[in-house]
Amino acid sequence: MSNDAIVLLREDHKEVRRLFRAYRESAGDDAAREGTVERIVEALTVHTYLEDELVYPKVREQLPALAGEMRRAEQEHHVADLLCEELSRMSSGDEEYDAKVLVLIDAVERHIEEEEGSWFPQVRAALGRKELQELGERMLGVRETAPRKPERAGVLHRVADALEG
Ligand SMILES: [Fe+2]
Ligand SMILES: [Fe+2]
Repeated sequence: MSNDAIVLLREDHKEVRRLFRAYRESAGDDAAREGTVERIVEALTVHTYLEDELVYPKVREQLPALAGEMRRAEQEHHVADLLCEELSRMSSGDEEYDAKVLVLIDAVERHIEEEEGSWFPQVRAALGRKELQELGERMLGVRETAPRKPERAGVLHRVADALEG
């Protein structure tokens, strides 16, 4: 298995795209849709965390020219986090469920295309093989303890449980 940071990020993107396809193909099957959305939320939460904590700071440091793009990408992460958090509290029977999932899918697909098309090649050129492998090693380590559910949703669930309990 490669420990190159860009290869690892691309593998995550591939898995996310696979889950998006599975969602689109499971129309009409509520249980399957909910299961797929749970996996989408988990995959995006872990991936976004790794990018926010390790990858984006490195890119900012090494490629100051990308600062504007990074700011925008961070806002895109923020929007995805909010939608994931809302979805993690909804069920497929909710009227807005499908629309929210499809907006999330659209936004993340566009975001991934920008990452892969626009700045991955620049990051590879700027960091070089050794530094990308070091970054990848750190990603593999942090991945073990990365949050798997949207942070605020976790807090809200705990508050709701405490109020009910
Ligand atoms: Fe991202
Ligand atoms: Fe990404």
